[in-house]
Amino acid sequence: MVTPEVRTFSPRVIEGSADAGTVAWTRAQLAAFLGPRLEADALARVGVAFEGNRLRGAYADPDPTPVATLRSWDARLTLPGGEVLADAVTGIGVRSTHRRRGLTDRLLTEDLGAAARAGAVAAVLTSTQGALYERWGFGLATYTRRITVDTARAHFRDAGPRGSLEIVERPDAALALTLPIHDRARRRHPGALERLASQWDQVLVGAGPWNGLEPDRLRQTVVWRDDDGRPAGYAVIRVEESWYATGSATLGVVDLQALTSTAYTELWRHLCSQDLVGTVSWPDASVDEPLPWLLTDPRAVVAGESRPMLWLRVLDVPALLRARRYPTEDALVIEVDDPLGHARGRWRLDTHDRLAPAVGPASGEPDVVLTASTLGAVALGGVDPRVLVRANRLDERSAGAAARLARMLAAPSVPWNGTRF
Ligand SMILES: CC(C)(COP(=O)(O)OP(=O)(O)OC[C@H]1O[C@@H](n2cnc3c(N)ncnc32)[C@H](O)[C@@H]1OP(=O)(O)O)[C@@H](O)C(=O)NCCC(=O)NCCS
Repeated sequence: MVTPEVRTFSPRVIEGSADAGTVAWTRAQLAAFLGPRLEADALARVGVAFEGNRLRGAYADPDPTPVATLRSWDARLTLPGGEVLADAVTGIGVRSTHRRRGLTDRLLTEDLGAAARAGAVAAVLTSTQGALYERWGFGLATYTRRITVDTARAHFRDAGPRGSLEIVERPDAALALTLPIHDRARRRHPGALERLASQWDQVLVGAGPWNGLEPDRLRQTVVWRDDDGRPAGYAVIRVEESWYATGSATLGVVDLQALTSTAYTELWRHLCSQDLVGTVSWPDASVDEPLPWLLTDPRAVVAGESRPMLWLRVLDVPALLRARRYPTEDALVIEVDDPLGHARGRWRLDTHDRLAPAVGPASGEPDVVLTASTLGAVALGGVDPRVLVRANRLDERSAGAAARLARMLAAPSVPWNGTRF
């Protein structure tokens, strides 16, 4: 059997269509995820959305269609009190006839190496395969949770409404209003990422690879403005279940971002007070949504199980730990084991200067020993190191070190990333 050759490229776009290599890559990627077989012109449209991304493929020549795929791009990732450049990875898929031959290992190891050399401080991905990515140093760093509201019981404690609401029909107008709100809101949530233009298309228009970038005509963007007319929040919604059979529709929330608690309240008041709507449901809400506390009956909101969302892989330990802020002044020696080498070492983290934490190689004995994957899980402050001691994932070498690390890494708000990619 010939070993497939790995190639990396960026889509070329010619007169609004992606080049043949990108079309073949896109076809392979959709097939690996059990997606639809799209016509070549639809694949050429989809490929345009990947412009500027890095496409990696493993090719079993002479077949021009890769047998394994990976896509990545640079994105700003929010940390507690800062942000870093991260390698966002997606589209990891292998043709079903070529699984378990080490192709994902080759593509991902290569991508992480290239990202580290290019200066990315971390890599991130979202995954439905919970057992897969730890071996490459990814740790589960954020969760989301579905919240579902029974609108008949949703009575708001505050009097309202306040401000004004606008339904924005044109996607370009919606983007102009929502992007600046998201850009400010994402900086408040460790784990949030800036979005590519193609991700915005997916959120606002519903145009994604799976539907050949066809718009989802059920989507609607509503923007809330304060009394001075300043946009301070938005919700993107779609009808998930029509009112037609039961007289009571279910509204799905695709995205909701609010810069003030008033904007948050008024957007939810709007969603819960629409005619024909009995239920509003948001699958990727934060695990600490304040909505139940806005209502006279908190039981009008049912919170589902929390589900894994963002996996984080630290590529540059000093750069990542220096870029975030810490609520306590302390110093610890952290030893990181990393088979891929990127995070490996014994590092001293000193947070006595809150504005300029010091991180560098340490010579003394470690206070805690952990793997790169465990470091990824705790780095945003969303997972408590003490829990990982109890799970034998973090070795506490000096008494009380895990509790000290927990206090150092604590985040000002619960890490949340509401965008699957
Ligand atoms: C999951 C998938 C990407 C794995 O690709 P692959 O090329 O078969 O993986 P590799 O051969 O490089 O395997 C690398 C290691 O991961 C392990 N592994 C592979 N798939 C796994 C899975 N789904 N869960 C847990 N471990 C897995 C392998 O056993 C191997 O471990 P080892 O080195 O200890 O032997 C591939 O089967 C696939 O495309 N599946 C459908 C699409 C998908 O699920 N993509 C990922 C979604 S985020």
